[in-house]
Amino acid sequence: MYVCLCKGLTESDVRAAGRQGFLTTRQIVAEFGLRDNGCCGRCAKNIHELVSLAKSQLETTCQNPVRS
Ligand code: FES
Repeated sequence: MYVCLCKGLTESDVRAAGRQGFLTTRQIVAEFGLRDNGCCGRCAKNIHELVSLAKSQLETTCQNPVRS
């Protein structure tokens, strides 16, 4: 699913950036140039929601580790 129409950025791109160490909305916005001229910045809210969801899922996983 596209999260940024200006840059053609998908949810998968945001997740990949997270795995590469871009862990805040600000870092992701800077990495993909979402404040560049010609970009509207409307996607920052959606990116923030993705980051928040990923962090809450990570916290849940850390609190309830899967044991094998
Ligand atoms: S939709 Fe992402 S900068 Fe416009």
